[in-house]
Amino acid sequence: MPRVLSGVQPTGQLHLGNYTGAIRQFLDLQAAGHEMYVFVASYHALTSARDPVQLRANIHQIVVDYLAFGLDPAKTHIYLQHDVPEVTELCWLLSCVCPMSLMEKAVSYKDKLAKGMSANVGLFTYPLLQAADILAVDAELVPVGKDQVQHLELARDIAGRFNSDFKAEVFQLPEYRLAGDAGLLPGTDGEKMSKSYGNTIDPFQDEPALRKRILSIKTDSLGLHQAKDPERCSVYQIFRAIAGAQDARTLALAERYRTPGTAGFGYGHAKLALAELVLEHFSDARQRRIALMAKPEYIAEVLRQGARAARAKAQEVVSRARTAVGL
Ligand code: ADP
Ligand code: TRP
Repeated sequence: MPRVLSGVQPTGQLHLGNYTGAIRQFLDLQAAGHEMYVFVASYHALTSARDPVQLRANIHQIVVDYLAFGLDPAKTHIYLQHDVPEVTELCWLLSCVCPMSLMEKAVSYKDKLAKGMSANVGLFTYPLLQAADILAVDAELVPVGKDQVQHLELARDIAGRFNSDFKAEVFQLPEYRLAGDAGLLPGTDGEKMSKSYGNTIDPFQDEPALRKRILSIKTDSLGLHQAKDPERCSVYQIFRAIAGAQDARTLALAERYRTPGTAGFGYGHAKLALAELVLEHFSDARQRRIALMAKPEYIAEVLRQGARAARAKAQEVVSRARTAVGL
């Protein structure tokens, strides 16, 4: 079974898009028995984070949330990127074989620039550090959302180029894995749900705030009795992503959009249905999270063990890479 690695940046509270695009895949792969490495991309976050207190809190929260969602440290190595210094060493080795032109193609950098983020060198070389994360543990399969596909293609290119430049099979070429429904989840404003756009839905919010957030999802202004196209509605898209496209509740909801009947069916009804679904779907995770918040020593121990396992693996890989280049 292929070895799996993935990570999330600690730039804010995890949201439903992170869950449907990435975390649910981690849980499925963990259940299938893969060797798993899941980490917190703390150095990646530093390309934008400038508040140390906030960063530390975000890092801790992501680990708590990984565990609350159901990652099991007995089956998955959970660690912090900065606890595995071999990754940054590998990043340098990769940067020396990576053509400038390859980095210049990276859309995430161009997009961030277009949004007015300041352009530091870390942001430019971001995909190289991501390649190092992956290659450092010989990962073969990387579960991610659609927006990460280009980063995965870059990682493959760089790994292949390193192998061919040094005429050695140092790195495995990783493949990406997208969630079954593959699309990016829309946020409350209809754009891609993202921590950086302020349009997220946090499945761990307390109930009144969560309901309020779901009620704020933007819809068009078709009335109660007008037929609506579910495919064009963010509320329906989010519902389908969580419950599943073939789930009876999803099919029934789509039918009510199309034929509201004499009693009528409006977006308010759809939002209430979504709120119930989210509360039910994450009910166990929400309870686990409360318990985990009170156990900082346990979290620290999980991270120590995770880093130990990831480092052992990364040391083998870095040693292979050093030998190949002549160090
Ligand atoms: P964000 O854009 O909120 O900062 P990240 O870049 O940290 O999220 O993404 C973490 C993981 O979640 C990645 O695998 C990414 O592809 C996935 N992801 C993020 N947003 C979405 C979304 N709206 N729909 C599906 N997957 C997503
Ligand atoms: N760039 C990813 C994101 O923004 C996070 C990430 C960093 C990652 N390193 C990785 C994802 C390695 C998968 C594998 O979501």
